[in-house]
Order: sequence, then structure tokens, then C-alpha cells
Amino acid sequence: MSLLEKLSSLEQEITERISQADSLASLKELEIKYLGRKGPLNEIMKGLGGVAPKDRKAVGQKANAARKAIQALFADSASHYETGTRTAGLDPTRPGTHQRLGAAHIVNQTMSSLCQTFHGMGFEIAHGPDIETDYYNFEALNFPPDHPARDMQDTFFVDGGRLLRTHTTPVQARELERRKPPIKVIMPGKTFRNEEITTRSHVSFHQVDGFMVGERISMADLKAVLRAFTSAYFGPDLKLKFRPSFFPFTEPSMEVDIQCWLGEEGKGCQLCKYTGWLEILGCGMIHPNVLETAGIDSERYTGYAFGIGVERIAMLRHGITDIRYLFNNNTRFLRQFV
Ligand code: DAH
Repeated sequence: MSLLEKLSSLEQEITERISQADSLASLKELEIKYLGRKGPLNEIMKGLGGVAPKDRKAVGQKANAARKAIQALFADSASHYETGTRTAGLDPTRPGTHQRLGAAHIVNQTMSSLCQTFHGMGFEIAHGPDIETDYYNFEALNFPPDHPARDMQDTFFVDGGRLLRTHTTPVQARELERRKPPIKVIMPGKTFRNEEITTRSHVSFHQVDGFMVGERISMADLKAVLRAFTSAYFGPDLKLKFRPSFFPFTEPSMEVDIQCWLGEEGKGCQLCKYTGWLEILGCGMIHPNVLETAGIDSERYTGYAFGIGVERIAMLRHGITDIRYLFNNNTRFLRQFV
């Protein structure tokens, strides 16, 4: 330890001891112990002779300043006794100890702010169970019995024929069953898939599903709502691209890409693999079979639905390049988002 480090650690020790002193007499005793001729302060200062001549002046000046600061600690504390502001065991004039406050995890923050954005557009918020039945996770969503997504590879099965939901869309099936149109709901939650953990995928992640069912609901409504969401979230100037896709529970189905804003204009970056577009969600018009299964007349009512990957949105918005950062719970990482 260098001489200056020794002084700084002594200063810390003294500060602590002074705060524990409960009378002027015990303070004076400490002062003699630490500042006396044979005390640690003098011992350390003696080391100045051993400092290389070229550094001696600079170190000497700093050491003197540290010594004055230590002497001032005693003088200050004694003066509080003399003016009566120091009472035994408690010194209300001392600065408090800093307490770090907890905060919502970045994934939860993102999920809440997504919900808030849609809530502002009139969506109600609904929740469903993490442990689902095959019926709500697949059957009610028009998955044919041999659909590959039912394969053991993607789904974690639990006892009693149940499973960990692979998406938040089963909540849509539950809400369709429970409510009468017009319905407008947003459904956040945890989802699980038996996948390899990589920079982009994890076994446990989060989604926000949303849907609206009513009379004469069309793709124009879907586009307007998604445009409003992306404007609120990524700014109003980015272009959206609706790409044809497939989900059993929507027809037609689409995936939405947003213009990549991370790389050089028009060129893209590593994250978008230099395509200039980033996929942000899946969506479509609710399949008539899904409405009929829930007891809703698909001749009279139509609806749109969408599902957003929460981690993906958080990563894009904050430039996080590996999904595992979100789940390692290293507080040095998480603290950046407080
Ligand atoms: N459930 C889909 C998935 O997990 C995402 C999704 C796509 C949800 C289209 C929807 C939708 O509600 O309409 O990948």
C-alpha cells in the first residue's frame, strides 16, 4: 500500500471510530490514540523520507492535505459536542449512508411500457396461466394435431398433460371465450420454449399479445394500431414492412419489419444482417376457426391479432446485442437501466 493509500484508509477508519464515539471524552481519547506522537498518523508520515526524491514534493503536499483533513475530522466532531448538536450515539449533522434503491428489471420495464402504450389506445390488460393446457396453447388456436410446434422439441411438458405455454396467444383464446365483442385486450407474460440458449434465443422469455374483435375490423385497423405503437416506441419516421408469413391462428398472417436505424442510412448493421430491416412482431387477421371455437360468430365479427417479443424490443431499443445479458442478472448490467 502506498503512503497515500495508507492515509486514506486511516482516514476511513478514523471517520468510522469518530461516528461510534459517544462522548467528548471518548473522542479526545481517540484523538490521542490516532494523532499522538506514537500514533499511526505520525508513523505513516515518517514514510515520507522513503519516497523517491522526484515524487517527494507532490506526495508530501497530498499527505499534508490528508493529515489536515484527519485533524479537521476531530476538530469538527469536537465542536459539535461544544455547540450541543452532537448527542450521545447519534450525530444528526453527519451525512447519511447512501442506500441503493431497487428498480424494475429492464424486461419488466419494457413489458409495462408496451402495455401502457396499448392501454393508451383503449386496450384492456389480461393475464393467463404460465402452465397451460394443450387445448388453449394449441387446439383452440387452430393448430392441426400434427403441427411441428407441438413437437417435444419446442414445448416443455409438465405432469398431468399440461405444458409451459410457448406463447401468450393462449390468453387470446381464453379471453375470446370469456368476453363478448367488441373486445380489445393486451396480454403480457412469460413464455417458454425448449430451445438452445444463444445470443438471440432463450428457454424463458416474454411476449405481449394483443387483439381486437368487433364488427368490420380490418387490416387497416391493425396497421393503424401497429403504426401508432412503433411511432411511440421507435419514433414516427421509420418505415414498416408487412411481410407474408404463417401462423395457424391468423389468416392472412404477417411479420412486421421496421427499418434498421442502427447502421449507416439504408445499409443496416450486424443486427439486421445488413438487410436494413429488423423483424419486430407477428400479426394477422384472426382465423375464423379461432373465433368459432370460442363461440363467436365469424360471419358477423372479424378481428386482428399481434404478438410482440419483449426481449427483442428491449434489445433493439437499448442496443443490447446478446439476450443472455437480460437473464444473467449481473447488477452492473442491470443498473444501467434504472
Ligand atoms: N404466437 C406467435 C409466436 O409466438 C406470435 C404471434 C403471431 C401472435 C401472430 C399473434 C399473432 O397474436 O396474431 O411466435
